[in-house]
Amino acid sequence: MSDIFLIGATGGIGHRLVPMLIARGHSVTGLHRKPEQADTLREAGVLPALGDIMELGVDELEQMLKGSDVAVFSAGAAGSGWDRTTAIDGDGPLKLIEAARRTGLKRIYLVSAFPEAGRTRETSEGFEHYMQEKKRADAALAASGLDYVIIRPGTLQHADGDGKVSAGRALPYGNVARGNVAAFIAALIDAPDIRQEIFELTDGETSVSDAVAALKRG
Ligand SMILES: NC(=O)c1ccc[n+]([C@@H]2O[C@H](COP(=O)([O-])OP(=O)(O)OC[C@H]3O[C@@H](n4cnc5c(N)ncnc54)[C@H](OP(=O)(O)O)[C@@H]3O)[C@@H](O)[C@H]2O)c1
Repeated sequence: MSDIFLIGATGGIGHRLVPMLIARGHSVTGLHRKPEQADTLREAGVLPALGDIMELGVDELEQMLKGSDVAVFSAGAAGSGWDRTTAIDGDGPLKLIEAARRTGLKRIYLVSAFPEAGRTRETSEGFEHYMQEKKRADAALAASGLDYVIIRPGTLQHADGDGKVSAGRALPYGNVARGNVAAFIAALIDAPDIRQEIFELTDGETSVSDAVAALKRG
């Protein structure tokens, strides 16, 4: 069983992931930026850790990470501005990587973005910046020497999902329920042999457990 540090615990993916991790026997510490979120997290079985990833230094994050052996980063600026995108989607994972190196945390699961996102429409400079920051974080994690899985979901839907996905190293673009992303991450965490990988994820026809089993190499 793992001690999991979840950045984005109150988000659409994060709040669905929490009960899945707890049901699998893991302990979860959840970063949250608003004091009033602590009670809800506690009620869900999460140990709350108050902090804003934009303001936290690596030293503070290192203190928070002590005792955790796995981290999930599913936070995001969600289109709230250029500088916030840089600080949350880009710098946030980089701080986590550095803090993880210092504490000896073993594995990071990073929610990134599907490379084909928005390719069929005219995108804004802000969206392109978002994609560049996601890629900057992916590249840093892939080069970090840590164990990692980068998850690139299609367009997220506000739904728990039916537990059926399409997951692979290269897929046609599509939508994916936030609950299916959460279920995929929960199953990956319990398959630690799957590491140093980047997966694309959409809704599909395969159960999450079969999809994860099929991703094992060898
Ligand atoms: N939208 C899409 O179609 C799409 C597609 C592919 C990938 N993604 C990626 O999917 C990930 C998460 O999706 P989601 O639906 O779970 O997002 P969400 O519902 O917007 O949740 C974002 C989470 O990040 C937290 N957060 C935001 N700013 C923070 C800060 N400064 N410090 C600490 N925590 C902060 C939020 O906390 P609060 O509760 O306090 O706001 C929340 O827990 C993001 O990385 C996003 O880029 C999105």
